[in-house]
Amino acid sequence: MKDSKKYSIEEIDILKGLKNKNQKTINSKFFYNKRGSILFDKITKQTEYYPTKTEIDILIKQKLNISKLLPEAATIIEFGSGSNKKITNFVKALKNPKRYFPVDISREYLLSNSEEFAKAFPNIKVEPICIDFVNIKPNEKKRIESMLKVSEDVIGFFPGSTIGNFEPNNAQNLLKNFSKLLDKKNHLVIGVDLLKKKEILENAYNDKCGYTAEFNANVLKRLNKEFSANFNFSEFRHYAFFNKSKSRIEMHLISNINQSVDILNETIYFKKGESIHTENSYKYSQDVFEDLISKSGFVKKSLFTDSNNFFAVYLLEVV
Ligand code: SAH
Ligand code: AVI
Repeated sequence: MKDSKKYSIEEIDILKGLKNKNQKTINSKFFYNKRGSILFDKITKQTEYYPTKTEIDILIKQKLNISKLLPEAATIIEFGSGSNKKITNFVKALKNPKRYFPVDISREYLLSNSEEFAKAFPNIKVEPICIDFVNIKPNEKKRIESMLKVSEDVIGFFPGSTIGNFEPNNAQNLLKNFSKLLDKKNHLVIGVDLLKKKEILENAYNDKCGYTAEFNANVLKRLNKEFSANFNFSEFRHYAFFNKSKSRIEMHLISNINQSVDILNETIYFKKGESIHTENSYKYSQDVFEDLISKSGFVKKSLFTDSNNFFAVYLLEVV
């Protein structure tokens, strides 16, 4: 490896993952460039991918209950805002929301969706924040804190079960950081995908039209474009399965052949059948998730689910 000082933090992250001897990995945050965000949005429209539809239905049906429990004239900060699909339903459940700060790593997508939101809700002040919310830099933290200070009440919004993409320890750290950022007595509304039959879970990550496979492979295209790699993506195939003992869907890209790939002046060797682990999507029981919440600086105020108990929307307060 060349002098590590010459690599950016992202490049070090990618190389470390691909050089891991036990299991090659790519952090799932690298899925989200513009193309990745568009493909994720396509996934959410597939019949097999139940989480988006179910969570939106919960937000619509529980509008009045949500409204009763949350303060008026609040500032909303959304973590991992994506296509803004959820927020447009969520703001309709709030009384006179004043400000909306969407946070996302996918810059172009964040900016264009923020513009659209501002047009649709001219009375809400919109200010997008493009950061990696896992590694918030001190100057970014200062900026967010001063943006939030303007309001008496802040509501954090973290839909989509994005929390499921983090291993339990990391999920706890992330939620702890969010609770500190939001501060005491403020709220977090968070969506979480619940445990269910293996077939339903596996179908959701293996849609017939192949958008999940394309989303998965797109990360290699991104590495070719942005990290000087030469992946032959037709020699990697999508694989997603439910790992019952870990209670998570795992996504992998499996090498069809023995091959080598050059990336950032390094060569990575793949054996036929060897995989790159690209994503985890944890599926929670209510007990396990509530335990996680209580260790992360929150107390549960309310819980809304659908009739199948597929998905849960928790309304939490910072303690
Ligand atoms: N909330 C939306 C989108 C979920 S997809 C929904 O419910 O449909 C996950 C979103 O989180 C993506 O938009 C992705 O760009 C963003 N994201 C993932 N990792 C991130 C990180 N480390 N920092 C900031 N945003 C991140
Ligand atoms: C964003 N996240 C919660 C999605 C999930 O279901 O884990 C990402 C995704 N990966 C494959 N399909 C959707």
